[in-house]
Amino acid sequence: MKLIFLAFLPLLNWAADPPKQPISFSHKQHVGDLNLKCQTCHTSPAPSEVMTFPAEAKCMACHQSIKPDSEEIQKLAKFFADKKRIPWVRVYQIPTFVFWSHKSHLDASVACSDCHGDVKTLSVMAKVKDMNMGSCMDCHRQKKVSNDCTFCHDKMN
Ligand code: HEC
Ligand code: HEC
Ligand code: HEC
Ligand code: HEC
Ligand code: HEC
Repeated sequence: MKLIFLAFLPLLNWAADPPKQPISFSHKQHVGDLNLKCQTCHTSPAPSEVMTFPAEAKCMACHQSIKPDSEEIQKLAKFFADKKRIPWVRVYQIPTFVFWSHKSHLDASVACSDCHGDVKTLSVMAKVKDMNMGSCMDCHRQKKVSNDCTFCHDKMN
């Protein structure tokens, strides 16, 4: 059992490297340099459990005219013209059997950076903070929020 686990360790570490995205989008450029607000792109529509990824039209509002000759922008323009969603590779993702809501955390004044780090410095989105059962529970313990199993999970058999 232990041996099998150890054999998978390198794989787990490798998985923590930033994934290759279909278009090399930079938060550093758009948030750090251009000062765009997170919610400009991650609109968190009601009931606000998810933050969502921006519509291609939103990118194209700028990129019709900004750098249209760039190879990366041409990839973007093609997704837009074909009415296809860009298949962004997920960086933070937890299993669907976990109760999760952005809204309840934002309402409790937890900052994006508490869970996603200092995003404006990232030229490639990477998992700079762990988001797993341990890290969820660490913060809940600190903020005196419940850590009952059924707070985050359905009753397990
Ligand atoms: C100009 C649009 C834009 C702005 C502004 C923006 N983002 Fe993003 N964000 C994206 C796009 C596109 C992706 C998918 C590509 C990637 O992961 O780099 C993404 C991905 C992410 C992810 C990874 C989610 C996952 O599970 O894959 C996080 C976390 C994130 N953004 C947080 C933020 C935060 C925090 C801010 C503000 C500080 C912000 N973003 C501002 C466009 C934006
Ligand atoms: C508010 C305007 C604005 C929005 C919205 C915007 N961008 Fe940009 N983007 C820029 C600017 C400005 C640059 C820097 C251009 C330069 O280097 O002169 C840039 C640079 C880029 C580059 C690098 C291009 C290159 O070859 O150097 C990519 C790729 C890119 N944006 C993709 C996106 C994607 C994908 C979205 C939507 C998720 C998006 N942008 C939304 C303004 C915007
Ligand atoms: C308490 C921790 C926490 C906070 C605070 C937080 N996030 Fe997240 N974020 C997560 C987790 C966990 C996921 C993965 C959710 C999933 O898999 O369904 C995620 C996923 C995302 C995604 C991917 C799309 C989605 O909704 O699943 C984006 C984009 C994102 N977060 C942006 C933000 C932004 C912007 C803020 C601040 C306005 C923020 N997050 C605040 C933990 C957090
Ligand atoms: C940085 C601190 C922090 C982290 C990290 C964090 N939480 Fe929370 N969580 C809170 C706070 C604060 C509340 C709000 C409690 C309240 O409303 O009284 C909360 C509330 C919740 C709720 C109750 C939601 C509701 O609508 O009542 C759930 C479920 C939850 N968290 C799950 C998670 C999961 C799953 C993770 C990890 C993926 C996580 N939390 C990570 C601080 C955190
Ligand atoms: C604050 C939220 C939170 C609480 C409280 C919590 N969990 Fe979890 N749990 C998670 C998250 C997030 C994951 C998925 C990520 C991971 O595996 O770390 C998870 C995963 C699991 C898994 C699946 C592990 C796997 O590898 O497939 C089990 C089993 C589990 N939890 C049991 C429990 C039990 C038992 C309790 C009570 C002692 C509990 N959890 C309390 C958030 C929570």
